[in-house]
Amino acid sequence: MSLETVVILAAGEGTRMKSSTPKVLHSIAGRTLVGHVLNAVDALAAKQVRVVVGAGRAEVEAHLAEIAPHAVTVFQEKRGGTGHATQLALDGLKATGTILILAGDTPMLTSDSLSQLLDAHHAGGFTASVLTAEHPDPTGYGRIIRGDDQSLVRIVEDRDADDVQREIIEVNSGVYAFDAAKLTAAIGTLKADNSQGELYLTDVIEILRNEGGTIAPVLIDDFIEILGVNDRVQLAESAALLRDRINEDLMRSGVTIVDPLSTWVDATATVESDVILMPGTAITGKTSVATGAVIGPRTTLHDCTVARGARVLESQCTDSIIGESVNVGPYTFLRPGTKLLKGSKAGAYVEMKNATLGEGSKVPHLSYVGDAVIGEGSNIGAATIFVNYDGVEKHYTVVGDHVRIGSDSMLVAPVTIGDGAYTAAGSVITEDVPAGAIGVGRAKQRNVIGWVLRKRPGTKSAEAASRHSSDEQKG
Ligand code: UD1
Ligand code: CA
Repeated sequence: MSLETVVILAAGEGTRMKSSTPKVLHSIAGRTLVGHVLNAVDALAAKQVRVVVGAGRAEVEAHLAEIAPHAVTVFQEKRGGTGHATQLALDGLKATGTILILAGDTPMLTSDSLSQLLDAHHAGGFTASVLTAEHPDPTGYGRIIRGDDQSLVRIVEDRDADDVQREIIEVNSGVYAFDAAKLTAAIGTLKADNSQGELYLTDVIEILRNEGGTIAPVLIDDFIEILGVNDRVQLAESAALLRDRINEDLMRSGVTIVDPLSTWVDATATVESDVILMPGTAITGKTSVATGAVIGPRTTLHDCTVARGARVLESQCTDSIIGESVNVGPYTFLRPGTKLLKGSKAGAYVEMKNATLGEGSKVPHLSYVGDAVIGEGSNIGAATIFVNYDGVEKHYTVVGDHVRIGSDSMLVAPVTIGDGAYTAAGSVITEDVPAGAIGVGRAKQRNVIGWVLRKRPGTKSAEAASRHSSDEQKG
């Protein structure tokens, strides 16, 4: 039997989230809730994926077009229950093979468990198989009613359960494998005779059984996998559990995580072995960190590429490339388009954007480098500003190889500093400096002798100055 179709139910209002964002578009570990579900489903190589959308349809569809363009959406205009959503999803579907149905709000599910369900379903030749788990606090979940032969007799929703049924801790995950033909035949017979007046997909189990079908509960060990997100408390709980799962996988693969509770690595990021992650670090988006790098403490890397042996300390970096053995931080802000080549350094209180720093070049302290390319072996003195913005447009600065920019230089773009050139400290450089020249762009200093005694008599400064000979005062 082949997996023909996957249906993801994601049309619910998500009322309990109290959000203007549709529930399934809330994110944990760098993916939306529905993104996690789609990711788990991806490995199954189903012929078709259908997603039932309703609340926030336009937003959800736009997101799906981006992350899962192969998925077909089905519109459920008004909430009619999981059974109603399934009816709509099955409409016009070829009723062959196996169909997997799951909810869009269970981000912890793994491909392994979905495969386990499908394998058991196919091996037993069942009409339907339901993924279940024993939950220490089953409140809110449908309960699994097993027969004497351990087969699944019925699923009773929490609000429709009696006191005895409520004691059952085996719960419905909301993940089902069905014989598509039998499901399609039965789905039309659902009735809304329950406390919510909705069509429950769970009721189809009893219907199939009464028609002589065989139904298997497939119990998995780890109830965490089936946790649904219905409110922000559960969102935070799932985020923390996913963080723990990701961190554990990383540590087992050879990453040192000094403080796992304060280290957040997105599911979309990669961290190689022998990386050290210090406390308070977030590795998010499509960031990759190569072996030997040390990141943190208190560092966020978003969509960054970090090469071997780099060191990033107390910094915020987005969409930047941090080369081999590069040093960043502390308190460095790397904005999109920053590229630090091998052995270079962006030091304390340095901000960079759309700029390339050549091999071995250094911006050690307190500088802004925007819209620039700097060659190799150059040094940018403390408090240098790349003046890239004239109030209307951005301009570009080119700095050559082995340049020495004096401290507190203003490089007013567009401007080019040639290879081996210097600028004098405190210069405002508005014209190109040719290779090997020194650009001096500052007023010549003059000393007004005796000024303090004349203009600030009686002050501590005057008192200090008067201790010197009057000759010195007069020059
Ligand atoms: C459902 C199950 C319950 C199970 C639990 C697991 C039913 C009746 N109950 O309850 O047995 O333990 O999931 O998490 O199925 N949806 C639609 N259209 C609708 C209604 C819901 O698309 O008209 C979608 C929701 O967006 C959600 C999923 O179906 O992704 C489940 O709906 P939800 O209301 O969260 O069901 P639960 O009460 O959690
Ligand atoms: Ca739910």
